[in-house]
Order: sequence, then C-alpha cells, then structure tokens
Amino acid sequence: MQIVRSVRDMRQIVGGWRAAGERVALVPTMGALHDGHMSLVRQATACSDRQIASIFVNPTQFSPSEDFNTYPRDEARDLAMLEQADVDLVFAPDKDEMYHENHCTKVEVQGLSQILDGEFRPHFFIGVATVCAKLIIQTMPDVAIFGEKDYQQLCVVRAMARDLNLPVEILGGTTVRESDGLAMSSRNSYLSNVERTLAPCLHQEITGVAHRVAGGDPIEAACADATSHLDQAGFSSVDYVSVRDAETLDLPAAGRPMRVLAAAWLGRTRLIDNVAV
Ligand code: PAJ
Repeated sequence: MQIVRSVRDMRQIVGGWRAAGERVALVPTMGALHDGHMSLVRQATACSDRQIASIFVNPTQFSPSEDFNTYPRDEARDLAMLEQADVDLVFAPDKDEMYHENHCTKVEVQGLSQILDGEFRPHFFIGVATVCAKLIIQTMPDVAIFGEKDYQQLCVVRAMARDLNLPVEILGGTTVRESDGLAMSSRNSYLSNVERTLAPCLHQEITGVAHRVAGGDPIEAACADATSHLDQAGFSSVDYVSVRDAETLDLPAAGRPMRVLAAAWLGRTRLIDNVAV
C-alpha cells in the first residue's frame, strides 16, 4: 500500500494506472475509520482494479465553534485497517498541500447546501463540495463512493459532480449500524455511557416515522411525534426531523420516493441519521 502526501505524486501514480486501462475507485474519509468506512472500501474493491482511500480532516467544513481540533485522529490505526483491506493507495495530504496560502476558490451547490443540515451548519456543504471536487480532480477516479449515512452530503456531491461535468460516477453505500441500530460514526466516541444508551432512539424514531408515512399517516404529525419522543428521551435538542424527496431533498411529492432525515444533539454530540420510507 502506497502512502502519498502530494498531489504531484498522486497524479503520477494514478496516471500510470489509467494509462494501463485500470479502473480506479476513490473513498474519501476524514480518518478515525470504522466499519462504515470499511464497507465503502469493500464496495470500491468490488467495482474497480485500484482503490484509493483519502484521509484528510478538512478544516473548511468545520465552523470555528466546531470540533476540528478535537476530531479523533489516529493515522497509524487507519493505515493498518486500509492495508488489511488491500487498498492500493492512501492519499493523506496535509493542510498546506490541500489549501495553499492563497487558496481562494469555493464550490457551492446552491439550494441543496442551505436546507436541512445546511440551515444549522451554513459553512458545512461549501467545505464538503470544495474538498470533494479537489479530491476527485486530484485523484482522477472512475468512481467515488460516499455513505448514505451522510445522505444530504451524498446528494450535494452528486449535484456538484454533475454540474462541474466531473468524469466520475458517484456511488452511495448503505449505512452500517451498531447492533442496536445506532449508525456508526467517528463522532460516536464523544458520547458518554449514558448518552450511548440513548443514541439508538434516533434511528428508532426515524424508522417509526418511515413506517407511519408509508402507512399513510400525515407527515407533519409523524415528525412532530418523533421530535417530542426524542426530547422526552433526553436529547438536548432536535435540529430537525423531516421527510423529503429522496432525490432532490425538496418537500415530498405524491408518487415519488421519500427519505426521513434527522439531526439531534445528545449533550455536546450532534447525531445525524436517515432511512428510506
Ligand atoms: P467521514 O465522516 O470520515 O466519512 C467518510 C465516508 O464514510 C462518507 O462518505 C460517509 O458518509 C461514510 N460513512 C460514515 N459513516 C458511515 C456508516 N455508518 N455507514 C456507511 N458509510 C459511512 O464524510 C466525510 O468524512 C467528509 O465530509 C468527506 C466526504 C471525507 C469530505 O471531507
């Protein structure tokens, strides 16, 4: 497994693979890897000849009040997991390689970046779209794989790749969960023991909303009930529980696939999750 820190080396290696006609897959991550990430790596292996995983804790998707400095980092452990999974190359640039001194370009997917999570984290999807555009341009993959766990992020990246005509196929990977339903996340390590026992309620509640809406219950009542259940269970605040069009994230329309999305705080940890209706 090669560990590459510079865009220049990255280009040279991937250029060789592409010249040999090999199909290349990219799995972008911020490290602190868990089985959710590794499932995307396995999906990459199944659809490509060469797999690249990137590890970069992207400062531009954190606001000054967020957890950039305390975000879990353990590169040695991440590299061992990726080596074990037979990844060909890990792209792990430092901050200066990714954002040189005079970096002044941002990528914004308008509309999609302002709703749901974007309402609560206005900087977030601009940082994500910018770094994902850069990673895709730097690594030139045929396919890039993102988890449905971050469903709105997947929608934003798809729109960005489509609008910028990036020659890459964007694939989604199913959310990997703990046995009690909690979606795996690098940030779950922030939860106290008590918070960890409450955390699966988020998945239970959005699954309940999905069943009710599928059964014909009014959407607003189902979302309001889930919100008050989360409040009662001990969540410190609920940013949103919302049912949206599964492709556009617009308000749902009859006969279209729908998705339930939610974000809620347990103490100082913000959890997000989503399920299909
Ligand atoms: P990170 O949170 O490290 O996640 C990397 C990828 O793993 C994302 O595509 C995410 O959706 C996926 N993932 C996380 N938890 C998952 C789970 N439980 N099941 C399946 N997939 C899961 O998301 C980011 O990093 C960043 O925003 C990034 C896209 C790398 C841009 O900086």
